[in-house]
Amino acid sequence: MATESLLHQKTKELLIAAGLDEKKKDKAFVSRLFFHLPTIHRLFAEIYATHPEAESQFFELIQSLIKGYLVREKGLQKRDEEKAKKDIWFLSNQLAGMSLYVDRFSGNLKSMPKKLPYLEDLGVNFLHLMPIFESPEGESDGGYAVSDFRKVDARFGTLEDLISLRKKMHAKGMYLMLDIVLNHTSHHHEWAQKAKAGDKYYQDFFYTYDNRWIPNEFDATMPDIFPESSPGNFTWNEEMGKWVMTVFHSYQWDLNYMNPVVLREMLENILFYGNLGVDLLRIDAPAFIWKKTGTASQNLSEAHTLLRLIKQCVQVTTPGMALLGEAIVAPKEIMKYFGTDDFLAQECDFAYNATQMALQWDMLATGETKIMLNAQHEILQKPYGTSWITYTRCHDDIGLGYDDYMIAQAGKDPYQHRKFMKEYYSYSGEQWMSPARGALFSSNPKTGDARISGTLASLCGLEKAIIERNENSIAQSIQKILMMQAHSIFLGGLPMLFYGDEIGYTNDYSFQTDPGKSYDNRWMHRPVIDWEKVSKVEVEGSIENRVFTGVKKLLKIRKQKSLFSDSSNISWMSPQNIHVAGFIRKLGNERVYCLFNFSDKVANLTWYAFREQAEGPQKLINHWDGEEFEIGQDHENLSLEPYGFMILEPK
Ligand code: GLC
Repeated sequence: MATESLLHQKTKELLIAAGLDEKKKDKAFVSRLFFHLPTIHRLFAEIYATHPEAESQFFELIQSLIKGYLVREKGLQKRDEEKAKKDIWFLSNQLAGMSLYVDRFSGNLKSMPKKLPYLEDLGVNFLHLMPIFESPEGESDGGYAVSDFRKVDARFGTLEDLISLRKKMHAKGMYLMLDIVLNHTSHHHEWAQKAKAGDKYYQDFFYTYDNRWIPNEFDATMPDIFPESSPGNFTWNEEMGKWVMTVFHSYQWDLNYMNPVVLREMLENILFYGNLGVDLLRIDAPAFIWKKTGTASQNLSEAHTLLRLIKQCVQVTTPGMALLGEAIVAPKEIMKYFGTDDFLAQECDFAYNATQMALQWDMLATGETKIMLNAQHEILQKPYGTSWITYTRCHDDIGLGYDDYMIAQAGKDPYQHRKFMKEYYSYSGEQWMSPARGALFSSNPKTGDARISGTLASLCGLEKAIIERNENSIAQSIQKILMMQAHSIFLGGLPMLFYGDEIGYTNDYSFQTDPGKSYDNRWMHRPVIDWEKVSKVEVEGSIENRVFTGVKKLLKIRKQKSLFSDSSNISWMSPQNIHVAGFIRKLGNERVYCLFNFSDKVANLTWYAFREQAEGPQKLINHWDGEEFEIGQDHENLSLEPYGFMILEPK
């Protein structure tokens, strides 16, 4: 590949040909490009050096960066500069997010602006719009099977509607998050269509094979993602007369990043989203983007190289857009998406704190904090300058992805423990003692694995309590919902609520009669919002009112204290009581103690807990309800109600 001087010379030629003014108007872009150029080159070479077209493809990629910059709106460039002036804009405690399906929440993009005041009232200013680009109905995987990365699906509206919404959001100080589905396309995508029609050039965009030799080799070591609805990792395509790799559903064709053209095309799509004004881009399923026989084809080092390369390119062209890697993998593996070694904090800016999310559910089921604490030495490795998406629920299932050793160290048998967890959350009939109403998702009889579907409210017992008209159980479920939310809201990171949870939506079973959805029970926790139900938020004492006002209050408390910004300033209190999870958030001399009682009984905590890490405070105020406490002697206790939580600050 090109030497350093050739690299500079050719890049300069491209800049001149594009008419860029490197001394004045375009100075910032040009200096960004030259700053990142050697690293972009090095990363590109790591993957493609032996490709016959490596050099020409590399300069095509540089060209894409220039093209992307040329169409970047002035307003967005200004926003980039403003973000750059702030320390690290996305670590701020002022951000609070919600993830929602536009059609199921408001109908379409045009009707979204009318709903923004509702979200603002709740305290949400960061919106993750679930996939809205064209995706065939019935074979859409909730929009994650994209047939056109640049065309908004007619169900939602048009690109203009999206841009207009973004402008309105930005004007209100809100932020936009969208997905790029990097790993695959729908089989209706133009590339797949051409591949099916026999076009060799496009067949190379995917992993296509004439016979089962290589597919068998892959299948031998690759796990099944959707074993019930889409077993195996390959699908026979009659039209093409070939096997094609389909790791997720059979209608989602995996893109082949060994082909540099695929990388460039997808990078252009990424920059296109950046130029739509996206503040945070969720990279869907990044763990899967590189495949190798003899491996699980997840979390491979080449996948990280590609993500680092993408990060560098985004920093050049659309620097205000942060990246979120949706890697729902083992705790140790998740951390690597923040970058390692030379690239520490230079890969994805965000990852989902999926480990902690699952462990919250573990604590809720067991009433104990041990396993969660065993995971912290991994989770706390997150580098400064990166952040978590913290959440209790999202559109996906809950995977019990924490490590076996974390369970074993807590004195439990990993197999039996996971079995208990699955039974606790999935409804198997009235006789079962658990108040949770969920279902198993993607059970794999071969491995015994399964994940869990269900809304926050149903998994916290609200559905059962409502059916039984049991006021005490309703109150307890609401308490659980708020405790779960509080735990993820104060933890450190950008809290991302899932729509419907803010008013306690229970499971919706109507997906069972829709052939496009019935094979996927994740739809039970993706409600269609009934705005009449939402209006009950105004009715004092209603379930909707109690949940909504609680969540609103939590977000408000978080916004009041800058120590809740994610400056990696969390430490765990040592477990004086195994039922109580406690962490401290610190900033300078300030500190806040966040305590959560995961058991269904009153839990006592010795006052010594507050003296253990530093000279203890004399008095504490609980921001949740305003109650004040005098710190007592070591043999005296602070009492937390069943599923109670406290946000305590020294006074
Ligand atoms: C991600 C999405 C999930 C989807 C999968 C395949 O995990 O969150 O909903 O099914 O990717 O695109």
